[in-house]
Amino acid sequence: MRLLIASSVDGEALEKLQRDHEIVDARGCAPERLAEMGTGCDAIIFRSGVQITADVMRRSNRLRLLIRAGSGCDNVDLDYVHRQAIEFVRIPEPGARAVAELAFALMLSLARQIPQADALLRKGRWAKSELEGFLLRDKVLGIIGCGNIGACVGEMGAAWGMEVQGCVDEPSPAVANRLAQRGIRLANFDKVLEEADFLSIHVPLLESTRNLLDSAALRRMKRGAFLVNLARGGVVDERALLEVLQSGHLRGAGLDVHEREGEGAISGLASLPQVLLTPHIGASTRDTQKEIGRRIVQIIRARSEEPRLDDAVAAPAK
Ligand code: MLT
Repeated sequence: MRLLIASSVDGEALEKLQRDHEIVDARGCAPERLAEMGTGCDAIIFRSGVQITADVMRRSNRLRLLIRAGSGCDNVDLDYVHRQAIEFVRIPEPGARAVAELAFALMLSLARQIPQADALLRKGRWAKSELEGFLLRDKVLGIIGCGNIGACVGEMGAAWGMEVQGCVDEPSPAVANRLAQRGIRLANFDKVLEEADFLSIHVPLLESTRNLLDSAALRRMKRGAFLVNLARGGVVDERALLEVLQSGHLRGAGLDVHEREGEGAISGLASLPQVLLTPHIGASTRDTQKEIGRRIVQIIRARSEEPRLDDAVAAPAK
């Protein structure tokens, strides 16, 4: 198969793919170049940070498989995928634990002001009396979106002695029961929003979730609460967030995802010391990417063993 590699893939997996397939390495390419390089490719392998547009897919007259090496689908033209009946395989499970652990890293860093402590100490300031923090134990952890990742964050919160409340798009007794087994109490969006001391966002970016956390929603959060977003930048209105943080209504925010991402993009929130910013590294642990790489190799192996349609046509008749 001819494989277009549009994002970073685990090195070992890449070596294995290279042994049996033709690799077109488009990592870091500009969008127009990505479309050109896709010509004649059978499959595209990608993460977030690249746009898999209709144009990119159209250039390849052979494209039959898309592998999303992760979870989100907001960077793919899904209408085109469905219209052309291109097979679309996601690998969402391995990233859940990594994203959940980063959510905790952000919550703990915010609660204990770790970046500020580190920065002051490097300047010779012994700011022990200024750096009083908060425990996570007994605080309300609100989870917006208790799917694969959100439920993992909730389960970890319960293990830390937090009171965990979560909301989902389609609540039902079965969902409530499944979440309860992981220590998460199902509640509605308003209750989760208003009662959380730490609010963690885990919904995909859709038209219905764009700016879900707008100015009105952010103002309904508890005074002094912390917000962490490891879902997608467009789910939180960054301008509104800047205002509620500047007014002191929210105490701090940790953001792994941003309205504008990529080299040179600096968030408008970067001016605030109570904001922690990371460059969309939720799923970027070696362990996670190794597992995703292993699954990519498996998927490609299985598909390349299937006969292609043109081979079937070319087969001699008896
Ligand atoms: C995902 O949706 O899986 C994450 O954003 C990770 C990524 O693709 O970088």
